[in-house]
Amino acid sequence: MRELIKRTAQPGMIALSGGLPASEFLPTDALRDCVDAVLTREGGNALQYRPMYQPLLEWIAEYMGTRGVTCDPDQVFITNGNQQALTILSHLFLDQNALAVTEAITFTGIHQVTRGRGIPVRTVATDLHTGVDLEALERAFRINPTPRLAIIIPDFHNPLGVSITEEKRIQIAQLAEQYGVFIVEDDPYSPLRFTGKPLPAIKAYDTAERVFYLGSFSKMLMPAARLGWMIAPRELIPKLTVIRESIDLESSGFMQRIVAEFLQRHLLYDHLKQLNTANAFRCAAMLTALDQYMGDIATWTHPEGGLFVWLTLNDAQIDTWQLFEHALKQRVAFVPGGAFAVEGGYHNTLRLNFSNVNEEQIEEGVRRLAAVVREYGQQSYRKNGNGNKYD
Ligand SMILES: Cc1ncc(COP(=O)(O)O)c(C=O)c1O
Repeated sequence: MRELIKRTAQPGMIALSGGLPASEFLPTDALRDCVDAVLTREGGNALQYRPMYQPLLEWIAEYMGTRGVTCDPDQVFITNGNQQALTILSHLFLDQNALAVTEAITFTGIHQVTRGRGIPVRTVATDLHTGVDLEALERAFRINPTPRLAIIIPDFHNPLGVSITEEKRIQIAQLAEQYGVFIVEDDPYSPLRFTGKPLPAIKAYDTAERVFYLGSFSKMLMPAARLGWMIAPRELIPKLTVIRESIDLESSGFMQRIVAEFLQRHLLYDHLKQLNTANAFRCAAMLTALDQYMGDIATWTHPEGGLFVWLTLNDAQIDTWQLFEHALKQRVAFVPGGAFAVEGGYHNTLRLNFSNVNEEQIEEGVRRLAAVVREYGQQSYRKNGNGNKYD
C-alpha cells in the first residue's frame, strides 16, 4: 500500500486512491488559537510527560452517550489512534494459539495486527448493503476452536463504504455474549455521516462487556493528532496500560490538551458540518460520474458517509492490479481491491476515495478510469480472440 500510494504522487495524477480528509477543510486557524491558549494557560507543564488528560476523558465519555454508550471517564483509554488500539488488543488477546475473526475484505491495518503477526484468521463475508454477514459470523464463532475476538468496522467501512444495520448490531452483541467472543468495534468513520440516520454503536447493545469500542480523532478532526480512544471494561485498563507503556509510554499530553481545547470550544460540530457537506458533494459527484461512465461495466456501493466507494467490475477476468498500471499511465489512481483481501481473490474490485479530490477531478478521474477499463478489456479480449466486448 505504501509503495502504491508513493507511485500515485506524480504531476497531473488524479489520485482516487487516498484515505484522507481534504487538507483544505482541516481547521488550521482554530487549532492555531487552541495551541496558543494551551501554552498561555499551562506554559511548560503542557509539554511534559503527563497522565491522560481528564477534560478529554470527560468529553469522550459524554460523546459516547451520543453513540448510545453509557460509560465513565475511567473506562476511556487514550491511544495514538485506532491503529495503536488494534495493536494493543492484538497483544493482549492474540497469541499463536488464539484465533481471530476478520471480514474477508478489510482495512490493511487489521491484516497487520492479525495475520501480519502470524495469528490464524477465520474470515467472514460482508454484505455490500447491510454490513458483515451474520450467518457467516455465527458460523465462525460456532466452529471449534472458538475465536478470541472478531474485528469489525461498523460505519462507512474501509474499503467497502457500507454500514452495518441496527438489527445486525444488536445481533452481533448477542452473538459475542452467546459464544464468549470479544468484538473489536473499529470505528474511525461514524462522525463522517453526511446522509441517513446515525446508528448507535455495537457497544451500545453490549450488556456482557464483550465489546471494545475504538474511536479516533484522525478522520473527524485531523490525522496528525494521532489520538484516539478505547472504551474497555474497567478491570482490563491496568493490563492495557502495561502493554501500552511497553510501546510508547503514553499519548502526547500536549496534543490531548490542544484537541480538548478545540472540543471544549464547541468547534467540532461546525467543523464536521463543513467537512461532511464537502464530502457529500464529492460523493454525489462520484456516484453521478460512475452512473455516466461506468453504468454498463461495473457496480458500486452507495455510502452515507465516510471516504470510500467500492467498485466491482462486471468482467470477473479483469485483474485490477494490472489495471492499476494502465491507469497510472492515464494519470488516474485507485487502490486494487485485492490489497484489502485477507485471503486473496476479489481481483475485479477496487476502492475509490472521494474526499481528497474536488468535483471536477472526480468527474475527470472516473472518465479516465472508465476509458482504461474499456481499453484494457478490449486488449485482453483481442488477446483471447473473443471479440470486442467493450465496444
Ligand atoms: C478501519 C480503520 N481502522 C483504523 C484506522 C487507523 O486509524 P488511526 O488514524 O486512528 O490510527 C483506519 C485508517 O484509515 C481505518 O480505516
